[in-house]
Amino acid sequence: MAKFLLLVFLILIGPLIPTGAFPRPGVDCDYSLECQSGSICCINCPAGTRKASSCTGAGEEGKCEDCDDGTYTEHSNGLSQCFRCTQCRSDQEIERPCTHVQDGKCQCKPGRFCAPDQACETCKKCSRCKKDEEIVRNCTSTTNTECKKKHLAASANALMIVLPLLIAALIIGAIIFGVCRCRRTGCRCSAVFSCLAS
Ligand SMILES: *[C@@H]1O[C@H](CO)[C@@H](O)[C@H](O)[C@H]1NC(C)=O
Repeated sequence: MAKFLLLVFLILIGPLIPTGAFPRPGVDCDYSLECQSGSICCINCPAGTRKASSCTGAGEEGKCEDCDDGTYTEHSNGLSQCFRCTQCRSDQEIERPCTHVQDGKCQCKPGRFCAPDQACETCKKCSRCKKDEEIVRNCTSTTNTECKKKHLAASANALMIVLPLLIAALIIGAIIFGVCRCRRTGCRCSAVFSCLAS
């Protein structure tokens, strides 16, 4: 958008800069097709090119030259310079290469993401699901990983903890019960285990 506005601005104002002139009454170019050069209207150069030299007669194109590699113009224009292509940052890779008629696009490298509705000076690291979670959606260049609790596995994990505790509780209970029974019945037990055995 900013570039588009700049383009519009340059199309409107650009031809005035070299001469330092203000639009003269009577020169009213069709700026969607033409650009002003002094007191005449030149035909724009096509997208992918720039105006190397202005036209000498009204309605002429002048000299148009292809944009150099690494530069582009997306629309027909009267610019003397093409725009520089966007450079991908080190945490990005090329999503769409730059051409002479369209700027390129960058995206976060695999393992990193950037939500399109947020400012993104650097790509964020994709989250990793916790041990008791599973991936619902893999990370993409624009969305973070989505995780969900593993229900079955979670209850299996709980069982692994509860079961040994339960067994330990049963053993301790049996020992206490055995000791108490020995005390009640008056048996003399030197050791709890001999007591349990009796
Ligand atoms: C995520 O990606 C891995 C490997 O790239 C794949 O095996 C898995 O099925 C994907 N998971 C989902 C939920 O798409």
